[in-house]
Amino acid sequence: DQTPVVEKAASPVTLPDAQTVTSVRHFTDRLFAFRVTRPRSLRFRSGEFVMIGLLGENGKPLLRAYSIASPAWDEELEFYSIKVPNGPLTSRLQHIQPGDEIILRPKPVGTLVHDALLPGKRLWMFATGTGFAPFASLLREPETWEKYDEVIVTHTCREVAELTYGREIVESLKDDELIGEMVGDKLKYYPTTTREESPKMGRITTLIESGEAFRDLGIPPLDPAVDRAMVCGSLAFNLDIKALLEKAGLREGANSDPAEFVVEKAFVGDGV
Ligand code: FAD
Ligand code: A2P
Repeated sequence: DQTPVVEKAASPVTLPDAQTVTSVRHFTDRLFAFRVTRPRSLRFRSGEFVMIGLLGENGKPLLRAYSIASPAWDEELEFYSIKVPNGPLTSRLQHIQPGDEIILRPKPVGTLVHDALLPGKRLWMFATGTGFAPFASLLREPETWEKYDEVIVTHTCREVAELTYGREIVESLKDDELIGEMVGDKLKYYPTTTREESPKMGRITTLIESGEAFRDLGIPPLDPAVDRAMVCGSLAFNLDIKALLEKAGLREGANSDPAEFVVEKAFVGDGV
């Protein structure tokens, strides 16, 4: 038989770990968020990250670490992404449209999980830039509200528009069918900008160090008996906030050895 074999490859390549994009939203020329279908087999803990990507030009998967921004109970998966000019992945990923496929390796890992913290009363989430992503998951996770009397979310960005994704999630919590009542008045949101005028200017590290953040929020200084923290930002930010937490007597925890705070890099490198 001489009939050429017509491979199914003419339709979108069905990769072993392919998921379909269901929605995309752009916030700035540097930031966007998107949702994809969730593999039935994928179980994860809110706050964890996975490897996602696209097929590279060499035919091999081009994968990067991404925090899952949606909570563990959500039937889809959400991601919050940077657009790096000339970035191998994001220069292409930023053009995805509903119906497109991405690759998602269903092996979640990470330290920004409740299991890595000892019980406490007040949970701090310290984020810069896309470091908000794991907190977008954890804020929509019932366990967060069951475990803590108070949750304080700080998000520092250069410009006001970079706060939008986080602000909208924070503002949606009260009306959330699942957790709205649990949130009640437990949540305090503390957004700051460093390079554009906004109601609160400055790096969170400076505002913690000077005591201004505690005065603004009406809460006492950090106390290892009460406070727990999760940190996600650039390496420089993580190191600075870690030093402040350690100065207050909090110790870094891990999945295998829970303590008072946990840290994860929002990305590797100096930032864009
Ligand atoms: P890359 O070659 O990966 O990066 C090029 C340079 O861009 C980096 O050296 C760095 O200077 C800068 N850069 C990369 N990512 C960022 C960022 N997020 N913010 C500011 N500057 C950056 N990225 C996300 O957008 N969302 C996430 O939820 C996310 N979660 C991550 C979780 C972990 C544990 C790690 C290690 C990284 C995470 N990243 C996340 C970064 C991500 O893996 C990629 O680096 C990013 O998608 C850019 O990919 P790229 O191939 O375009 O450029
Ligand atoms: P700044 O504008 O003063 O550098 P980036 O986009 O570079 O990742 O930074 C995101 C936000 O995090 C910016 O507002 C930036 O402030 C802030 N930031 C960067 N490094 C640190 C750090 N070491 N400590 C506190 N905030 C930081």
